[in-house]
This record gives sequence, C-alpha cells and structure tokens, in this order.
Amino acid sequence: MATRSTRSTKPSRPAPRTSGGRETGGGRATGKIVAAANGHAGSAKPAPKFKHAETGTLEGVWDYAPAPETVKVKIDAQYGHYIDGRFRPASKGGTFVTINPATEQPLAKLALGTAEDVDAAVASAQRALPAWSALPASERGKLLFRIARRIQERARELAVLETIDGGKPIKESRDVDIPLAAQHFFYHAGWADKLQYVFPGRTPRPVGVCGQIIPWNFPLLMAAWKLAPALACGNTCVLKPAETTSLTALRLAEIFDECGLPPGVVNIVTGAGETGAAIVNHPGINKIAFTGSTEVGKKIAMAVAATDKKLTLELGGKSANIVFDDASIDQAVEGIIEGIYFNQGHVCCAGSRLFVQEGIAAEVTRKLKVRLASLRVGDPLDKNTDVGAINSREQLSKIEGYLRIGQSEGATLCQAGRSPLPKTGYYCQPCFFTGVQPSHTIAREEIFGPVLAVMTFRTPEEALLRANNSPYGLAAGVWTDKGSKILEMARKLEAGVVWLNTYNKFDAASPFGGFKESGFGREGGVAGLRSYVEL
Ligand code: NAI
Ligand code: MG
Repeated sequence: MATRSTRSTKPSRPAPRTSGGRETGGGRATGKIVAAANGHAGSAKPAPKFKHAETGTLEGVWDYAPAPETVKVKIDAQYGHYIDGRFRPASKGGTFVTINPATEQPLAKLALGTAEDVDAAVASAQRALPAWSALPASERGKLLFRIARRIQERARELAVLETIDGGKPIKESRDVDIPLAAQHFFYHAGWADKLQYVFPGRTPRPVGVCGQIIPWNFPLLMAAWKLAPALACGNTCVLKPAETTSLTALRLAEIFDECGLPPGVVNIVTGAGETGAAIVNHPGINKIAFTGSTEVGKKIAMAVAATDKKLTLELGGKSANIVFDDASIDQAVEGIIEGIYFNQGHVCCAGSRLFVQEGIAAEVTRKLKVRLASLRVGDPLDKNTDVGAINSREQLSKIEGYLRIGQSEGATLCQAGRSPLPKTGYYCQPCFFTGVQPSHTIAREEIFGPVLAVMTFRTPEEALLRANNSPYGLAAGVWTDKGSKILEMARKLEAGVVWLNTYNKFDAASPFGGFKESGFGREGGVAGLRSYVEL
C-alpha cells in the first residue's frame, strides 16, 4: 500500500498563503518614506521613488489597510457534552473555560468530562452501534455527504469560530482547515458503499466503538480526519477535542443533528488529559485513534498494550526540508516559509529542520530574512494576517524556552519581522536559527512554533544521513530540479510523507502518518480505511 506520496495532490486550496506581492488597491501607507515623488505623469521627469529608511526597498512602505473579518459568531456562555444526540450539562467534573488566545478573553465555559461522562458516552455509542452498522451503506454515505455539504454551508461561521478559539489566521481556517474538513467527509462518503472494492474478496466489518482524541492545532480538521472514516466504515465514536479548542467540534455536533445523524453515533466529551485517559482506559472502547504529542502517545500505547484495543497514533515530528543547489531558489524559499510558519508552526509535519546545500546557504538565508520581514504577525481575524496567535500561554512559554536554549547552546537567532507584536494575547515573532549543530536541542526536539533550525550539507548522502538522524519520521521536503534525485531521496528518507518541490499539501485521498516515534497507522486514503475495519 502506498504510504508515501511522491507527488502532492492539490486539495481545494488557495494560492500560497502569502505571496511576496502586494495588493494594488486599498493600501495604506505606513513606515518611513525617505525619498518621495519627484515627477508627474506625462512629464519627462523620472517616475516617483519611495524607499524605506532601513531596508532601502519598497518593502514596508506600503501596507494593507486592516481587513477585519466582519461575521459575528454566536457563542453560548456554556456548553455541555454531546451524548446520545443531545447536549448534557456538566456533571460532577464541573467546568473549565476556553479562551481566545489572541485577546486572552474567555469565550465559553465547557464541561470537564469525568470517567462517568465517558462511561455515558461509551454506553450511548454501544447502543447506537447495531443499527448504525446495519444501515445500508449507501444511507451512511448519504448522511456523510449531507454533513460535508452542511460544513460548506456553515463554512464562514466555522472558520471564524476556529480562529477565535485557537488563534490561527482567518485566511488559513477559511481556505485550509474548513474546506479540507468538508473534503474528508465528501471523500469518505464516497467509500461508504464501496468498501468491498477496497478489500477485494474480504468482508469488511466495523471495529465497534472508536475512542478518538485530537489536538489543538487543526481542531475541526482533526475531528473530520477521525470521524469521517470511522463513520463510513459503520463504527460509532466517542471524540474528545483538545481543551483549548473544543468549540468547532461542538458546532459539528449541531451539524450532525441538523443532518439527522442518529443519536449516539457520535458522542463528544470535552475535557483535558484525564478525560482522554478515561476514554483510553474504558473497556467498552474497541479502537483508539490519537493525534498529539509523542509523550502522551507513548502513555496511550502502554495503556492499551495489554488489551485487544486497536490503536493508531499520529504523533510529533521534526521534519527535514532539504534544498539542493540545483533547486529553484525562490520557489524553495516560499516552500520553507510555508513549511514552518503555516499555522504558527503548530503543525506536526512542519519543516522545522532546514538542510541547505552549502554553496547556496548564504543566498537562501538572505532571501529567507527578506521574506520573514514581509510576514504580517498579529490579529488572527484580520484577513491579511500571515501568522496569528500561539495557541496557549503554555505553548508560548515552551517556544520561548526553546529560543533561550537555542541561543545558550550557540546558535544565532534571526528575527527579521517588522510587525510589532500585539500587547495582549500570545504572540511569537517568526524566526530562524543559523549556526545550528545536529546535537543542538533545537535541532532535535519538536518546538511546535514558528522556529526554524537552518543547517547545511555538501552531498546528497550527507543530506540523507542528517535528515534521517532523528527519532521522528513524519514528513520531509526535497527541493531539486533533478527527477532522479527526487526519486532517490523520496525512497531513502524515513518519513511517512515526502513532498517534492512543495510542502504542506494535504488531500483526503492521500494517506498521512509516521515512521519511528512519529507513530503508526495511516489516516486518509484507502490506507486510512484499514484501521476502521475488521476483515
Ligand atoms: P497533548 O499530546 O498533551 O494533547 C493532545 C490531546 O491529548 C489533547 O486532546 C489532550 O487533552 C489529550 N491528552 C493529554 N494527556 C492525555 C492522556 N494521558 N491520555 C489521553 N489523552 C490525553 O499535547 P499538548 O500538551 O497540548 O502539547 C504539548 C506538545 O505536544 C506540543 O508542544 C507539541 O510539541 C506536541 N503536540 C504535537 C501535536 C501533533 O500533532 N504532533 C499536537 C499537539 C501537541
Ligand atoms: Mg480556546
């Protein structure tokens, strides 16, 4: 089964998140203009010249006017768990608050799931299982199609809510997260009544009740990655969103209701690690699917080791982005930016280790610096924002800790950004380190922030050795003009996904998952269906 993609299949994705270019209309002049107009159209005098005092370029002289998202989303003061097709108030566990990390303002109170809440959710999923799995597969498919359409219809609301609750730029939730979440339901709706063609000569049966625990970096998208294949294969689910980003999953529950998904087929319990552990340890669960840190993944693997629960783990990464000297350098620089600063670097497959061939290292870092200076950091609800808020105070202090470690171990920090960071909210200036040694902490550990470690290599063999010298193996990127080099590198890189002359492209039809400590099992594509059936 093909688990590597040597070619990116482009989803319904927009143009690159930021092009170096500027809009021509509606711009507002900011910055310092040191030399101004000295001519009129039609005269023989030279064209107007503008120049930034510090950079000597037009960069930063003209900028976009603010473009705040105007749609207001209604958020209730309090939400309960979604069990048996209805919202239940918090029980003994009490409540916790989810905040907007861009403003530090509270958004809503959520129910803190206890073992009893999880028990009720599992019982509901068990009750729903016989009828759901016996439903004609085409009917299951129809429901999934309906959910996909409804996600599209409510896309703007979902995008705004995702951005408010998690801090990611609105242009990413609008153009990446929500369209891809809908795509996952569309894609799996199509498979629901065709499973016998995926597993020819076999009779695929559902696994049963699936416990699914997801992280905060792509909240609705990860819910879709987990739920869509499980439901297509006739399973029922107990899903736990991450504690900082539960709101879109709860909105998805409303969509399930609107679409007529039978009660109990999907149950959503909110809460933190203990709630997750209660799902993992519940004897009524037949399969666990987890996306999150390698540390928690290892705990889950140990917890289910002595049981007959099936398990898939999609864990951390420290992915290598390798640029050869025959690559198109400007294109590679865009790919490096996309690879590490997309979603504030809160991406399990982020290209956080950059390996540049020695002869072009100076040019690449120079261009990277210029490009970094053009990224707009700030209000995630502004449609021009490239880098939004860090998801939580904890994550911000973790990233800041790595910035200190990087410098104390001898690497050189480059923060070329010129947008001042907002005074409230959790923000981090996107940056990169040069002078990084493979033994440095910042070259080995997952930072999960907008921090890139730049290193060099001389030969393809050295690039491979250094890229594979990691406990992780989730993804990699290769930039070169030579087809033979592409195929050789893709074959030898220990990574579940290898992007060639592109980065961070996702598609529901393309399996995603890791090697080594990045986990096991695949999500998406035909390979992803395998973990949701018994044969
Ligand atoms: P985490 O792994 O603790 O959280 C992920 C999910 O697991 C959340 O829903 C959480 O409530 C749940 N969880 C926590 N402890 C659990 C347990 N013992 N049993 C079952 N479920 C449990 O990640 P966290 O603490 O939010 O972030 C810490 C670091 O993990 C990040 O700095 C980042 O490096 C990494 N991370 C990696 C992700 C990835 O996709 N590779 C996603 C999230 C975090
Ligand atoms: Mg939040």
